Amino acid sequence: MLASLTSASPGISNRHRHVEPAVGAAPLIDAWGRCHTYLRLSVTPACNLNCIYCRPRHAVRSPHLELLAVPEMIRLVKVFAQAGITKVRLTGGEPLLHPRILDLIADLKAIDGLQTLGLTTNSVLLGRSARALKQAGLSALNVSLDTLKPDRFERITGQPVFFKVRESIDQALQAGFASLKLNVVVIGGVNDDEVLDFVEFTRHRPIQVRFIEHMPFTANSWRPASLVSGRVLCEQILRRYPLVPAPEDTAPSGTARVFQVEGFAGTVGFIDALTNRFCSQCNRLRLLADGSLKTCLFRRPEVNLRPALRAGASDGRLTQMIRAAVSGKLPQHPSLDELVRQPQSMFNIGG
Ligand code: 5AD
Repeated sequence: MLASLTSASPGISNRHRHVEPAVGAAPLIDAWGRCHTYLRLSVTPACNLNCIYCRPRHAVRSPHLELLAVPEMIRLVKVFAQAGITKVRLTGGEPLLHPRILDLIADLKAIDGLQTLGLTTNSVLLGRSARALKQAGLSALNVSLDTLKPDRFERITGQPVFFKVRESIDQALQAGFASLKLNVVVIGGVNDDEVLDFVEFTRHRPIQVRFIEHMPFTANSWRPASLVSGRVLCEQILRRYPLVPAPEDTAPSGTARVFQVEGFAGTVGFIDALTNRFCSQCNRLRLLADGSLKTCLFRRPEVNLRPALRAGASDGRLTQMIRAAVSGKLPQHPSLDELVRQPQSMFNIGG
């Protein structure tokens, strides 16, 4: 049954084939024709929440990691940008816990070829820094909020900070973040009764609410019944609201199917990572806070760039290492059956 959910064939689309890198070097194209233009950079494995879908429930501590310093992150992102990365998203853990996040953003902003600089946050620290983040050069903000109910928020995250997070969404809009996205991990039996409330949340706010299928990671709260597919959610919404495809400019690259209730200010997206694998359009790489490089969210890192970086590797050598990892990228992430069995934690990857 689980296998049948993920049996789609790995058809490769042309979607990213013709994206040219901004500067000099050849683009990062893998053996399946996918061109990589998007880097997610986890700046810290630390987090100030303890969400049931992310952290292992039984306090498994992350081993002490040696982390990249800010100048090392900047050096690596420059190398990635020379090889055609045009978009960087900062993740965590919780990226706003990084003490030098504003400096990092300002320095990344100055890198040639980078067109979009985004950040995904749980918003606990966002309110007071939304303006400064915008001024430092952040262009796209994603906020995680899985419930609109204060008690439930505490049950999901372990912290009684619902109102702070809820308020920070309006503060971010006031700070001028035009492309604000709200990530909602839908967990069957936990928050799947709030889907229509979240659609209603887009009536007056120019935000995109994105329903994300709950993915299994080691010892998180995943059970087969907690996976509610995007298709089921869409059907539920359609019984109440007529959805139309969102205007072109709000549709992001590949991962989400985006709709709008006619007349509403915001949009609604579905990220069906498990039931509708979008691997054929994958244009992303992930650099973790310790320097390891992942070419697939659901697979182990291919290589760690930190030792070579610290040993004085040239840009050319680092690019070679990145290229070797990209060329070994597999066409699809593992099936749901395999995912359930394989050990991997989410908290240091950042989605
Ligand atoms: N399933 C789906 N999404 C997850 N995230 C973290 N853990 C999971 C999971 N088990 C994503 C959420 C969150 C972001 C930081 O990572 O989208 O907003």
